[in-house]
Amino acid sequence: GDRIVGAPSILAADFANLAEDVRRAQRGGAELVHFDAMDNQFVPNLTVGPVVAASLVEAIDLPVDAHLMVDSPDNLIPPFIEAGVASISVQPEAVTHLHRTLTMIRAGGCEAGVALNPTTPPEFIEWALPYLDYVLVMTVNPGFGGQSFIPEMADKVRRLKEMTDLPIQVDGGITAETAPIMVGAGAQVLVAGSAVYKGDAEVEMRKIIDAARGA
Ligand code: DX5
Ligand code: ZN
Repeated sequence: GDRIVGAPSILAADFANLAEDVRRAQRGGAELVHFDAMDNQFVPNLTVGPVVAASLVEAIDLPVDAHLMVDSPDNLIPPFIEAGVASISVQPEAVTHLHRTLTMIRAGGCEAGVALNPTTPPEFIEWALPYLDYVLVMTVNPGFGGQSFIPEMADKVRRLKEMTDLPIQVDGGITAETAPIMVGAGAQVLVAGSAVYKGDAEVEMRKIIDAARGA
């Protein structure tokens, strides 16, 4: 089957020691860094943007995947591309002209993704599939780390797998217990924040990847 990838979410890391926290997860097998941008509009929380992404890209040797939980993300796409991220996902609920937005991401040399809120149907992106490189299924409501996994999202992953061969990411409440459920449904990229940084990030990242690969 598809190769399973572990992606630590820096939202749960120490923002004063981001690069070192990424390297700890990398020693545990992480192959991608999940970078959460929030604007206090689309979600009720505020994090970091392209300036911090640029510094992180310089400091580490893993690809950075930006998850934009922001309204009208178009203005932020050029600076994130300039920052050197490898991929950018937008929330289609927050985008009016999704074709234009995804095309802009690809034109900048990045992979393009969409992140679906828990009640956003897979069919909402059916006509966007040709312009997508991956799909992120939110397994919590975006905005905060440490929330409880919504188990019904396994059915959404299964539905998406019937629609497309694109890699599926899952994000929210992913642990060594929930990761195998989502891999069993067809997920390939496991984003985990609090489950990685609650303890030794190397050990916890490895636990999640090992559990998922055993699924
Ligand atoms: C939630 C973010 C997630 C978050 C996941 O809004 O998109 O990436 O960091 O955190 P955990 O793994 O703690 O649910
Ligand atoms: Zn995220």
